[in-house]
Amino acid sequence: METVVSGIRPTGNLHLGNYYGAVMNFIKMQEENHCFFFIADYHSLTTHPTPGDLHGNVKKMLVEYLAAGIDPEKAVIYIQSDLPEVAELYLLLNMNAYMGELQRVTSFKDKARSQPNNINAGLLTYPTLMAADVLIHRADKVPVGKDQEQHLEMMRNFAGRFNRLYNVTYFPEPLAYNFGLELMKIPGLDGSTKMSKSDNEGSAVFLADAPDVIRKKVMRAVTDTGPTQPGQPKSQPVENLFLLMNAVSEPSVYTHFVETYQNCTIRYGDMKKQLAEDIISVLAPVRDKISELSANDEYLHKVAKTGADMARESAAVTIREVREIIGFRPF
Ligand code: TRP
Repeated sequence: METVVSGIRPTGNLHLGNYYGAVMNFIKMQEENHCFFFIADYHSLTTHPTPGDLHGNVKKMLVEYLAAGIDPEKAVIYIQSDLPEVAELYLLLNMNAYMGELQRVTSFKDKARSQPNNINAGLLTYPTLMAADVLIHRADKVPVGKDQEQHLEMMRNFAGRFNRLYNVTYFPEPLAYNFGLELMKIPGLDGSTKMSKSDNEGSAVFLADAPDVIRKKVMRAVTDTGPTQPGQPKSQPVENLFLLMNAVSEPSVYTHFVETYQNCTIRYGDMKKQLAEDIISVLAPVRDKISELSANDEYLHKVAKTGADMARESAAVTIREVREIIGFRPF
C-alpha cells in the first residue's frame, strides 16, 4: 500500500467544483492507500489571516470534508498545527533550500506581486514547509493540480538533496498521484470554464448553500438567446449548464435537454429549474451532514485528536531517524 499525503488550505467553503474534483478524488484515494489528509493552517499564515477567522475556517474545512465523505476510519485526518514535528523538519530542510530556487517559484512571484507589503519568509519558504508535510510521512505520492506541480518538483529536489548530502536513501522522491480517470470539470454559473469562489460570488454553488440560494444562483446563470438552427454549436455559458447537468442529473434528463437544444425547442428557464432541483438533491445529504457535524464539537475534537495522534506517531519516527542521520545524538 502506498502512502499519500495531501494538504488542504483552510480557505472557507467548498463548492460543487471542489466536490467533484478534490473531494471525490480523496474519497477514491482513501480506499486504496494509506492516506494522510491535513488542514494546512500553518501555510495559511503566509497571507496573515485575521486571527479571529482562522479557527472557524479550519473547523469549516474539517466539517465539510467529513460531510462530503472523507472517512477518519480510512484516512488519517489532522490539523497541520497539531503536528509540531513538521515545523522541525521544515527548519532542517530550510538549511538546504536555496534562496535562488525559492525566489524562482511561480507561486512566490505571484504572491509577491499580489501582496507587495507582505513578502514574508514564510511565503518564500512555502515549498519547504510543503515538502516537510509530505516527507514527514515519507510519502510516495501527492495528488497535485497543475498549480502545485512546481511545488512537487521542489519536494523531490529537497528529498534527493537530503539523501545525497547524508549519503542515505532515506526519503522517497514523491510522485504525482495519478487519478486514472479524467477529472470531472465543473464550470461556473457566470459563464467561466471553472467554478471558482473568488471570481464572483454567483459563479459557485457551495455545499452548504440552502435550496433557495441554489435556486436563485442557478436561475441567474448566464445563457444566450437560444439556438435558431439545428446543430448550432453551444455558447460557453450554455455548454456550462449542460456540463453541470451531466454531473448532477439523471442521464435521461440530460439527454432530454440535449435533444431540445438540437431541435431548437429548448427553454433555458425549464432547464435551469431542473438543474437547480438536481443540484439540491445531490447536495442534500452533504448539507444535512454539515449542519449535524457543525453542532458536534465533541465528535470533531475526537476526529482531530485521533488524527493528530496517528500523524504524530508516523512523524516521530521520521524525526528521530532524521536527527540520527544529521548527527544530533544524545550525550
Ligand atoms: N499548497 C497546497 C495548495 O495550495 C496545500 C498544501 C500544503 C499541500 N501542503 C501540502 C498539498 C502538501 C499537498 C501536499 O493547495
